[in-house]
Amino acid sequence: MDDQLRRAYLDAMGITQWVVRQPVLPEIEVTPAVAASAAQPVKPVPIVVKSDAPPQPTSEPQQRVESATHEEAPPSWLTEAPLPDEEWYSSEASHDDEEQYTPRSMVADLGWDALQQHIANCKACELYRTRTQTVFGVGNRQADLLIIGEAPGVDEDRQGEPFVGKAGKLLNAMLKAIGFERDQVYIANILKCRPPGNRDPHVEEAAHCEPFLMRQIELIAPKAILAVGRVSAQNLLKSADAVGRLRGRVHRFGTGNIPLVVTYHPAYLLRSPEQKAKSWQDLQQALSLLQK
Ligand code: URA
Repeated sequence: MDDQLRRAYLDAMGITQWVVRQPVLPEIEVTPAVAASAAQPVKPVPIVVKSDAPPQPTSEPQQRVESATHEEAPPSWLTEAPLPDEEWYSSEASHDDEEQYTPRSMVADLGWDALQQHIANCKACELYRTRTQTVFGVGNRQADLLIIGEAPGVDEDRQGEPFVGKAGKLLNAMLKAIGFERDQVYIANILKCRPPGNRDPHVEEAAHCEPFLMRQIELIAPKAILAVGRVSAQNLLKSADAVGRLRGRVHRFGTGNIPLVVTYHPAYLLRSPEQKAKSWQDLQQALSLLQK
């Protein structure tokens, strides 16, 4: 039937006709600048993959250490009694970390000396107010093995060197057990400044310091990284998992896919010596990566 005729019939019968209407959009006043930018095509944003995605819990870890392969008597650090009153305390409890990155461009091309100078002058976060000095890192700048801890404690803040307190002494013994003197490896921290009261680093503090550590890793180009403790492991792997979940397998770090092994922090081992056997396995796993 002709449409006009159909409408006339319906009108005559008093039947309302439903018609599809276009939505009426409110008029918005825009400035000429906004109108011009709206006309521009959207620029694609480059996505940089910083490191492996946080590991998903899996029943089949990549490379699990089944047992210690070391046949000799256990090293002394493994069997020693805990030291009381450890000044620097590391708790291995899990916590959620926000992800936050800072631009790396400011230090991306710096050599060792310029980087060290840059860090010594850093006032990017509030920690500069309470530090005695920055703690850059120490050891062999061409080391195969890079040890990354959490942050300077009171002794490190005084001496300007990482891991010089009681935890550092245990770390030295642990390294010796796999055949390394302290000066054969490189030792650095997530933070370059001491958090007051040895509290956990804040997310934004770690984010400000991250480019410094990334540049150190680039310069060293280690064959393997040993992340000691929760704060180190969680920051490097961008994970909220506890050390107990992150240890016992080989992670890959950064664009260089550097093998990374997680172990307990020596300060934690001083308080919980029953975990030393697991740490010994982790050390041997790290060592095996260097021998490949
Ligand atoms: N604990 C760390 O993680 N780093 C240090 O330098 C000292 C104690």
